[in-house]
Amino acid sequence: MALIELRDITKLYKIGQIQVNALNGIDLSIENGEFVSIMGPSGSGKSTLLNVIGCLDQPTTGTYKLGEKSVEKVSDWQLSNIRNRSIGFVFQSFHLLPGLTALENVELPLIYRGVLGRERKKSAIEALESLELGDRMHHLPTQLSGGQQQRVAIARAIVGKPSVLLADEPTGALDSKSSLNIMSIFQKLNKSMGITIVQVTHEEKIAHYGHKIFRLLDGKIEKIEVLDEQLLAIE
Ligand SMILES: Nc1ncnc2c1ncn2[C@@H]1O[C@H](COP(=O)(O)OP(=O)(O)OP(=O)(O)O)[C@@H](O)[C@H]1O
Ligand SMILES: [Mg+2]
Repeated sequence: MALIELRDITKLYKIGQIQVNALNGIDLSIENGEFVSIMGPSGSGKSTLLNVIGCLDQPTTGTYKLGEKSVEKVSDWQLSNIRNRSIGFVFQSFHLLPGLTALENVELPLIYRGVLGRERKKSAIEALESLELGDRMHHLPTQLSGGQQQRVAIARAIVGKPSVLLADEPTGALDSKSSLNIMSIFQKLNKSMGITIVQVTHEEKIAHYGHKIFRLLDGKIEKIEVLDEQLLAIE
C-alpha cells in the first residue's frame, strides 16, 4: 500500500472575480521509502501540491490518504496533529526563527509535542550532531552560513522522526557545494533512516538525486519519470 495516495485532487483559489485552478486533477502514489522530485514551470502548482501533501493546506476536492488516514475527512486539529507527528518541512529560505539559537530552533517541534526539557534537549543535540552541527548549536541563524542554516532546518524537520520529509526548493538559495551537501544528507536520511522524501526543485540535476520525477504542468501531472540510476551525492 502506498504511503501517500492522492486521487483527483483539485485546489481552487478565488480572489475576488479571479479563480485559479492551482491543482487540476492530480493522481499520484508515493511508496514508503521513496525519494521523489517534483518539477515544473513557475505557477504549475508545485508548492500547492507539496502543501496539500504536507497537510498545510486542504484540497478543494479529491481524496488524500496518508498511511491509513483519509486526510480530507479529519478536523483542523487532527490535521495539525498529523503534520506534527508524521511530516517534516524544509523550505528554500530556511524559515528559522531569528531570535533563537540553532538548538532552540530544533527544540521547537518537540515543545509543540509536549516533550519535556531534558529529553527535548538531548534529541535536539543528537539531530544537530547527526548533521555535523555539534559546534554551532549556540549560534543564531545570522551567525551561520546558508548551508549551515539549511542543515539546522533539516535537523528541526527530522528531530521528531517523521515518516515523510517535504522540501520546497531546498537548494534554491544555496551554492553548488552546499546543494550537493544537502542532497548527500537527503540520500542518507532516505537510505539509512528510511524517511520518504518529496522535494520540489527547478534544477534538473538536483531532481536526479531521487528515484522518480513528477513533472507538473498547469496543475496536472504531465509525466512521471522513473530514474534507472540515481545521481549519488558523494562529497
Ligand atoms: N494562496 C493563494 N491564493 C491565490 N492563488 C494562489 C495562492 N497560492 C498559489 N496561488 C496560485 O496558484 C498557482 C500555483 O502556485 P504555486 O505556488 O503552487 O506554483 P509553483 O509551481 O510552486 O511556482 P514557483 O515555481 O514559482 O514556486 C499560481 O498561479 C499561483 O498564483
Ligand atoms: Mg513554489
